[in-house]
Amino acid sequence: MRTRIPILKLAAILIFSIVFVTAISLTGCDQPKEMTASEFKPEILPLPAGLPNYEEMAIPPDNPMTEEKVALGRQLFFDKRLSGDGSRSCYSCHVCEKGLTDGLAKAVGAYEKALPRSSPTLWNIGYHKEFYWDGRSGSLEKQAMAAWTGANMGAKADEIVAKINALEGYRAQFQKVFGSDATAENMMKAVSAYERTIIGGNTAWDRWRAGDESAVGEDVKRGWQVFQDAKCNNCHDGALFTDQLYHNAGIGMDQPEPDVGRAKPSGREEETGAFKTPTLRDIAKSAPYFHDGSVATLEEAVDVMLGGGKPNKYLDTKNLQKQTITPERKADLLAFLKSLTVDCTLKEPPLPQK
Ligand code: HEC
Ligand code: HEC
Repeated sequence: MRTRIPILKLAAILIFSIVFVTAISLTGCDQPKEMTASEFKPEILPLPAGLPNYEEMAIPPDNPMTEEKVALGRQLFFDKRLSGDGSRSCYSCHVCEKGLTDGLAKAVGAYEKALPRSSPTLWNIGYHKEFYWDGRSGSLEKQAMAAWTGANMGAKADEIVAKINALEGYRAQFQKVFGSDATAENMMKAVSAYERTIIGGNTAWDRWRAGDESAVGEDVKRGWQVFQDAKCNNCHDGALFTDQLYHNAGIGMDQPEPDVGRAKPSGREEETGAFKTPTLRDIAKSAPYFHDGSVATLEEAVDVMLGGGKPNKYLDTKNLQKQTITPERKADLLAFLKSLTVDCTLKEPPLPQK
């Protein structure tokens, strides 16, 4: 970790300069009096290329990031009119208060359709290479299209595209950003560009790792050591706290018809019951836990992990072993996990009304 601190400092300087320059430009006298939706400044956090262990975010060449596109994507992400029944936006199931999940054991889609899995967090999702608990989707763009036209949002793309183009406030933005009216593809490109700005880096733990000894208490510092001693980072690795690989921890394997997880898209029997390692950023807010929401509290989820997962034929015993630790060390571990809480600033922008 020690070698990364200078990089973090560099990132902090970078963040500071960007904020400073933005502040200067905002106070400029040529600032427009009337803010239209397209001029709304999204809360873009700088892409933390310098953060420890973040591999640089891969932006698809056919969907470059621009401020206008991100602003447009943000509106679409928050707009309930994108769902088939007008009930839900993307944000509805990925909300700040719940660590960018929905607080339900299993998600409920448009038309109140019960979905088979729990909403995962979206923090730092732009750094992921495969999406969903089972990694069945290869890009944010594809994932967004599936969420929108599938059971999550229940949208008939053609109908919604027509509604969006009927709103001049949206149509003008699509013309500016894509040089055409809204289409299903460019709508989901904009949403994906916005998702790539959903970055949760500035936690107490990050500030401590960047050199601020007062950012966390001694319990957190000890807990970070416990986390490493207990080999949690065999899987919850790096600054993203995920290796982005699939492991069987035994969750739900005692069900009559267990969710086979990764084995479905990969076709590999040995991956039965394996799911993508979730990040632990903002974990204190995202109860209930696991892909099936079967565990109500963080304490219990940590107990399952410390217990070496739940026994079954496909358990990843190579990476996950039972840890016997004192109640004090467990309390420290929990304090560390809570230090990963993100100060969430995502909020709904003004949406075009005509
Ligand atoms: C009804 C609730 C709901 C809505 C609405 C919803 N999602 Fe999700 N989202 C989920 C659930 C549940 C999953 C996990 C599904 C799975 O793994 O099979 C998920 C997964 C994701 C993932 C993958 C995360 C990962 O770790 O791989 C992304 C990205 C995402 N959603 C973005 C979106 C976007 C963009 C929209 C709007 C177009 C959206 N979601 C709308 C519930 C929802
Ligand atoms: C073998 C890899 C591996 C190891 C080692 C591991 N985890 Fe996990 N962890 C996972 C996977 C995979 C899941 C998701 C399991 C599921 O939902 O089926 C998970 C889920 C969790 C969750 C719930 C996350 C959520 O969003 O619902 C917490 C909390 C957690 N782990 C903490 C820990 C702690 C603390 C340790 C160390 C004691 C640890 N894990 C060790 C792979 C691992």
